[in-house]
Amino acid sequence: MTFEPLTKERKNYLESRFDGIYDFVEQIGVGSFSNVYRAYLRGIGDDDENNNDSTTLAIKLLKPSSHPTRVSTEIEILELANGHETISELLMYHQEPDGLCAIVMTYFDNVPYDWYYSKLNLCQIKWYMTSLLRGLEFLQELKVVHRDVKPANFLFNPRTGEGRLIDFGLSELNRKHDSKDGGDSRQCRCINMTRVCSVCLSKPKQQVDRGGTAGFRAPEILMKYPKYDGQIDVFAAGICMLSILTRRYPYFPKSDDFDALSLMIHVLGVNQMKEAATAMGKVFCSSLKEPAVVDFNDLVQEQRLNSFIDARVAEEDELGTDEGIYSDTSYGRSPVVEDDTNSLEWVAAVHMLEGLLAPNPHKRLRPAEALQHDFITS
Ligand SMILES: Nc1ncnc2c1ncn2[C@@H]1O[C@H](COP(=O)(O)OP(=O)(O)OP(=O)(O)O)[C@@H](O)[C@H]1O
Ligand SMILES: [Mg+2]
Repeated sequence: MTFEPLTKERKNYLESRFDGIYDFVEQIGVGSFSNVYRAYLRGIGDDDENNNDSTTLAIKLLKPSSHPTRVSTEIEILELANGHETISELLMYHQEPDGLCAIVMTYFDNVPYDWYYSKLNLCQIKWYMTSLLRGLEFLQELKVVHRDVKPANFLFNPRTGEGRLIDFGLSELNRKHDSKDGGDSRQCRCINMTRVCSVCLSKPKQQVDRGGTAGFRAPEILMKYPKYDGQIDVFAAGICMLSILTRRYPYFPKSDDFDALSLMIHVLGVNQMKEAATAMGKVFCSSLKEPAVVDFNDLVQEQRLNSFIDARVAEEDELGTDEGIYSDTSYGRSPVVEDDTNSLEWVAAVHMLEGLLAPNPHKRLRPAEALQHDFITS
């Protein structure tokens, strides 16, 4: 993503807002809740546009519309998790009475997802997942649910294999869930009726703060399961892996919760979704004529192989130009256009992915288990 260059006026404005302690270099991010800038402490470091050394800062300037809870949650969790190799490093924060609020972090030298997701080989995918899962393992130890795991919130450098989780504005700490999970042993009688049955009408209202990003929400969020936990982050990590393995982004288009569930059936199978719903005290009904069981390995393999064909065509089209997506090999690896789905590594990768995407959160791999998987350890 490219941003408007930082105008002299804006740069002067920002620098004066912080009493001249920072040199602002460029804008590196814009979200719904913040603008993020690359900067230096004045007098330390270099304000050269291309220099990203250890003195480089990422300053997240929160928009006045950000809810105060969002800001305090992000700071609290960054403080708690500070020092872990996979979590963005918090250096300091500013909260002024006039509403100015900024989080100052170490800049992490990363490559935009768009540039690499279709180019990673299996070894690099292993690095990506190892770093992401280590971050999630640590968060689960801290009882933090990130709630918005997605490529834009996991910065990765394919050259070094390192990654950083960022953006804890939606996170929850010590999540306490409602003890009423909506489970009711009586059988629902709504099916084929034009009104809601008394069993359903007597159920307690289920409210689950959806949060997160469409396309990355776990079945338990989509099915409004109040006892969800950090396993929703594991599912989102699985969607990231699915996107990289199949070289499709976004893998699931933005849609409402019902459409999202029906799209998931195509990948995960109706039977698995039904079984997950039962485990959460829900009933999952689908009129879609989909196979009850999906051969997950075949599906992912076919999508990866199709992407190789697309990649070859793109590569041939772009041969000799400096602009195609395959011309940027600045992070060290040439594009993968060979079929790597015959290897043992591939089999292990898909097996682990299936474990991360288990619709039933109780059967889904926990981060520590995934980190012991053959795909990661071999
Ligand atoms: N420590 C960092 N190092 C390098 N870049 C960063 C860092 N922190 C944030 N960024 C850049 O800024 C972008 C936005 O950051 P972040 O996701 O924290 O903001 P946000 O306003 O909460 O975003 P959104 O509303 O889109 O979720 C990131 O996607 C990344 O490109
Ligand atoms: Mg973000």
